[in-house]
Amino acid sequence: MKKLLVLALALLMGLTLACAEEEATAFTPTDSTVLVACFSATGNTWPLAEYAAEYLNADLFCIEPEVPYTDADLNYSDSNCRANQEMNDETSRPALAATVENMEQYDTVVLAFPIWWGQAPRLIETFVEAYDLSGKTVITFCTSASSGYGRTGEILAALTDETVHWIEGARFPASTTAEDMQAWLAEKGIAPYTAE
Ligand SMILES: Cc1cc2nc3c(=O)[nH]c(=O)nc-3n(C[C@H](O)[C@H](O)[C@H](O)COP(=O)(O)O)c2cc1C
Repeated sequence: MKKLLVLALALLMGLTLACAEEEATAFTPTDSTVLVACFSATGNTWPLAEYAAEYLNADLFCIEPEVPYTDADLNYSDSNCRANQEMNDETSRPALAATVENMEQYDTVVLAFPIWWGQAPRLIETFVEAYDLSGKTVITFCTSASSGYGRTGEILAALTDETVHWIEGARFPASTTAEDMQAWLAEKGIAPYTAE
């Protein structure tokens, strides 16, 4: 049992590293007009973002904080941990490690993240405010331990102007499959990119 737990932990860390080391440093845009941008602190949301990107023929960007979160930072049972301090401060905007230089090329942005205290992490607010998203379609999805999607989308939409077409997002369990993600995106009318 202990061995299984260690293996599961190692796999989880592997996923996190896959994002941190490969995606963030080697973001190589294609001609796609669809971007999937994902922040995943502990690796649950990242595979779902990969499923979305694969189905949509989208570029996949890993959103990361300039100062990485440690385990202690993410220990949200500690009221004073960094993540909780950020979430308790509406004005907190943690700096991004890197930005999407070519944001103009995307018509559609799929934004993925974990729920932190019932809403998107402040880092996602930093991301949304870092770009001119005017005229783009933006859809969000999140994973959580149990909380629903709630006002997550509304809070983010309030940070942008009225020309941004926000589509109501959803919360998914970490066990979501590629087929589930594909079905949801199709239902929401988010079409895969096809080269002309
Ligand atoms: C600071 C913090 C706050 C959280 N708040 C909630 C919450 O309000 N509701 C919930 O169901 N899960 C909460 N979680 C759990 C995460 O949403 C959940 O584990 C998610 O799947 C993590 O995704 P990730 O591995 O991609 O970061 C919280 C986690 C952290 C670190």
